Amino acid sequence: MKYFFLILGCQMNTADAERISSVLDSLGLTRCNSEKEADIIIILACSVRQKAVDRIFGKINKWQKEKKKRNLITILTGCVLEHDKNKLKDRFDLIFHIEELNKLPALLKPYLPVKRSDKFPSDYLCLPPSPFSSFVANIPIMTGCDNYCTYCAVPYTRGRERSRLQKEIINEIKTYIKKGFKEIVLLGQNVNSYGHTKSQLDKDNKPFINLLKAVDNIPGKFWVHFISNHPKDMTYDLVKTVSNLKKVCPYIHLPLQSGDNQIIKKMNRHYTIENYIKLVKFIKKEIPGVAITTDIIVGFPEETKKQFNNSLAVAKTCQYDMAYLAQYSQRPGTVASKLEDNVPKKEKVRREEELTEIIRESVYKNNQKLIGTVQEVLVDGKKGQYFYGRTKTRKVVKFEDNQDHTGQFIKIKIKQAEPWKLLGEIK
Ligand code: SF4
Ligand code: F3S
Repeated sequence: MKYFFLILGCQMNTADAERISSVLDSLGLTRCNSEKEADIIIILACSVRQKAVDRIFGKINKWQKEKKKRNLITILTGCVLEHDKNKLKDRFDLIFHIEELNKLPALLKPYLPVKRSDKFPSDYLCLPPSPFSSFVANIPIMTGCDNYCTYCAVPYTRGRERSRLQKEIINEIKTYIKKGFKEIVLLGQNVNSYGHTKSQLDKDNKPFINLLKAVDNIPGKFWVHFISNHPKDMTYDLVKTVSNLKKVCPYIHLPLQSGDNQIIKKMNRHYTIENYIKLVKFIKKEIPGVAITTDIIVGFPEETKKQFNNSLAVAKTCQYDMAYLAQYSQRPGTVASKLEDNVPKKEKVRREEELTEIIRESVYKNNQKLIGTVQEVLVDGKKGQYFYGRTKTRKVVKFEDNQDHTGQFIKIKIKQAEPWKLLGEIK
């Protein structure tokens, strides 16, 4: 029997799917790449925006029709709000919380002949994953979030923050490096607060810095990225550490969310724009060639034009290398959902377009500075006649060659810059 993942949302969901995959593989199932050939479809839901939730409903409508024609098992997991779970529970065959992954074989028993029943660890993060890539490793170092930003669904879908032990993470990474993996991505909703449980805090106040140093110490040629940071927890010490470590890449994702102090307060984000900008300037000074990316929400409840203009101004000051923009949408159960979603859709679209233009300009300007330089690129693969890869700063590079370098580091001379990608040739 074959199974297919529909992964919505962020890399945390991909990392979770890789763990689900190892459970299903152990039951004798095989992963496939299309919905059509699958006997089991597992959707890893994202609740961060209504758009992503609408996709779950769209898909299950389609699959319910398909179930009338053929045998198909539908499973829902990932980040689902209680509100949506209630609406979806009779439409999916199975809904399970990722924290209960070890129970999946038992839950599947009524649907398929489960021959083997391997014992899986009760902490699903300790379960060895079946990676989808042969060179990029997604390593969750923590899950959940304690920050309760007022617009965000994550604390309600993933629960409270919980970190993995450093020893366990390092062992997992070592296994990947032995297999020849080239990129390690450390994942968490707020990696800066990794290990900050009360007991650990008393002993050691810098668990994330220590983890980065330990990863950097693992022998071998590989890159390290980490996402995501929280400006309130990103310390100057951490910036200096990134600057000093060889394998940790000069790439910092620093979600701004809004450029207005009042909105930031309403979002429960606990920093000021002045401190945020100071931090960005420090990062740029301390880490040569760094790329800074961000997330910004437009149209938060009661966001005035003036407040939105403050987001534009901060984007101009920070000169980001990429920004992921979102039009605010109410997430049921969050604090902000009690506020009236009163910025009209049309105005949200307009604000997103205006901000996209500012971001496009800075990305393009930063990319142009790379023309003529030689960049190390990790090759992702081929699409059509071109190969695509990424620089240390996660910029997409397009080039041509007769040889396949997928999964390898190569040197590329940048010949041309576009707003969203670089074009080059092998050096
Ligand atoms: Fe959500 Fe805020 Fe936690 Fe990020 S830090 S996951 S935005 S609650
Ligand atoms: Fe979405 Fe969950 Fe990630 S809500 S953004 S998939 S942590």
